[in-house]
Amino acid sequence: MKIVNFAGFRTEAQKRLPSFLFEYIDGGSYDEHTLRRNVEDFKAVVLRQRVLRDVSNIRTGTRLFGRDMAMPVALAPIGIAGFYRRRGEVQAARAAEAAGIPMVLSTMSCCPLEEVRAASTLPLWMQLYIIRDRGFMKDFLKRMETAGIDTLFLTVDLAINGIRYRDRIGGLAGSQSLLARPDRLFDILSHPAWALDVGVLGRPLTIGNVAPAMPNGAGLKQFQGWVARNFDPSVTYKDIAWLREHWKGKLVLKGITDPGDAARAAEEGIDGIVVSNHGGRQLDGGLSSIAALPAVRDAVAGRLTIMLDGGVRSGLDVLRALALGADGVLLGRAWTWALAARGEAGVAAMLAIVKEELEVAMALTGQSDVRALDSDLAITGP
Ligand code: FNR
Repeated sequence: MKIVNFAGFRTEAQKRLPSFLFEYIDGGSYDEHTLRRNVEDFKAVVLRQRVLRDVSNIRTGTRLFGRDMAMPVALAPIGIAGFYRRRGEVQAARAAEAAGIPMVLSTMSCCPLEEVRAASTLPLWMQLYIIRDRGFMKDFLKRMETAGIDTLFLTVDLAINGIRYRDRIGGLAGSQSLLARPDRLFDILSHPAWALDVGVLGRPLTIGNVAPAMPNGAGLKQFQGWVARNFDPSVTYKDIAWLREHWKGKLVLKGITDPGDAARAAEEGIDGIVVSNHGGRQLDGGLSSIAALPAVRDAVAGRLTIMLDGGVRSGLDVLRALALGADGVLLGRAWTWALAARGEAGVAAMLAIVKEELEVAMALTGQSDVRALDSDLAITGP
């Protein structure tokens, strides 16, 4: 079937994936108010229709963190993507590179960063969680440097895991064996194409980057428990100072929605922030990313680069985020659904849709250059 928008990839991903994985991707924390607001608040951003402005040459290219990009879009870090499609992170990295945009590789990826790096000609951007074991952290930072990574996204909105009801029901939370429950086995056997692609051909199914620090096994069974035990909830700016001693590249903080936190990041000389609430998977009841953006933009006052993620479901949404002050956006579930549905070709098709939708939205609002948008492009915000 022809897929024409993000919703189409989601529908196909739902058919192809075992339900415990689909729910893990789709879900948010508690009653998922923030998850819903992330999407719905975009609709409240009303753009100004402008006409007769010669839009025969639309330019979507930009430059962020020293990197030329075909459009102001990158793939957000998504954990365990190798469980959604065979060697999923490699497939996504290839599609991103072909589309001329960067991918932020998750610390919790299945494919280790060296495997993903080898599949692309340009360096990746890398996401980091601070693990309690600073010896592991030092080695990990060294591995990134060796792989030529120059930009690090430190995720700061997961001091501890949010409570996600769907995972507690579906079983990704907890440490029981995936095959120990008859319902789980039935779920997997009902999705034979996935079972062959991922379960048989996609091995090793481990959390590749941190496997050296997981002596009791690095599989899905150990995933959530290891996160709970090893992510460091005591992190403050003193740890960022430590990080700076061991990391000389660019540093971006991912997971800021408060203007005070954004101003502090600017004062501390951080290179950029991602206005994000982890796709509604952490604090529920907080602001949507797009609603948080204007105050953050004002607090930062041009001192650092602002990206946004959460709820971007079209190229039109990309323009809405730019109109409210973002320099670029990250796509999370969008690429995850596309990967699960159709692998590398799916991510490539999804990125082509975003680009076309962004270009059309720019043309119909009279904008020719993504780096020089009208300051009054948005009539109303969320
Ligand atoms: C995430 N996200 C995430 N963030 C991060 O910093 N490291 C990670 O490993 C993950 N893993 C992850 C897995 C899954 C399945 C999802 C859906 C999300 C959050 C992600 O980077 C991003 O902030 C959100 O996905 C953005 O919201 P949308 O685009 O999904 O609405």
